[in-house]
Amino acid sequence: MKHYLSVNDIDSINEWVKDALILKKNPLAFNKLGKQKTIGLLFFNNSLRTRLSTQKAAMHLGMTFMTMNFGKDGWALEFEDRSIMDKGNAEHIKEAAQVVSQYCDILGIRAFPSLKNKEADESETVINSFSKYASIPVLNMESSLSHPLQALADLITIEEHKKKSNPKIVLSWAPHPRALPHAVANSFVKAMQLKQADFTITHPEGYELDPKITNGCRIEYDQEKALNNADFVYVKNWSSYKDYGKVINQDKNWMMTQKKLGTAKFMHCLPVRRNVVVEDEVLDGNQSLVIAQANNRTFAAQIVLKKLLESLK
Ligand code: CP
Repeated sequence: MKHYLSVNDIDSINEWVKDALILKKNPLAFNKLGKQKTIGLLFFNNSLRTRLSTQKAAMHLGMTFMTMNFGKDGWALEFEDRSIMDKGNAEHIKEAAQVVSQYCDILGIRAFPSLKNKEADESETVINSFSKYASIPVLNMESSLSHPLQALADLITIEEHKKKSNPKIVLSWAPHPRALPHAVANSFVKAMQLKQADFTITHPEGYELDPKITNGCRIEYDQEKALNNADFVYVKNWSSYKDYGKVINQDKNWMMTQKKLGTAKFMHCLPVRRNVVVEDEVLDGNQSLVIAQANNRTFAAQIVLKKLLESLK
């Protein structure tokens, strides 16, 4: 594997989940693999889980990490080829990516979408430019369209908590006051397709995800119907894709409640707004897997870093 940019880079999803669960039992089993190797983590946006779990995973593998809040502390980057750089951007991606490649062996990038310009966001300029000009493997720590470390952690969590071989899994949109990206939902949908899971997406009309991604998925606009007999309910807000980046509905009736959840397990990638996205009773109850999901971020990152390190040899 050259880079980890999307869940499509996973060659065998069942093997990866199995290997991550083995690593979880003995996290230091490969603590020599990353000796004298450095991972650089460049954040163009905020993070709690991704930052700390990726650092923890690197430590488990014996790596050194260097983390930078690039969006705040780095030079403003220019991405246009042959541009005349006489405006605000001080450094071209061509130099920045090559320079970082000399300091690091693997490079993690987090760069969210603008949610203003669909075409620009879909071109994934930041992460694609780093993977184009860097000479080292690039790890997606959430880009405009994808959050493949989160999706892998979610699959690990489902595997640990499932009570039947093919549980019913529902992705349910929830209200939120701000416009949020599609990355978590997109990657979860792709992961469900890879697993060929019994999977339903539910959201109000107008919140359809990119149809190229949900192609072939069951979509049910009636949330109650969708949730019927669910084993896992993954709740997430995203902004409209059709009316790109807009909050077109904040219907509080879509908030997840204990009554709606029934006996299903509750999942969310975090951070989550209490009593907007989901009520306290769910998050504080014993059906919530959110803390387990966050814990599994370490082992998702660790299995990916292990494979990237092995590809360096
Ligand atoms: N779920 C997730 O990616 O969390 P952070 O944004 O805190 O990294």
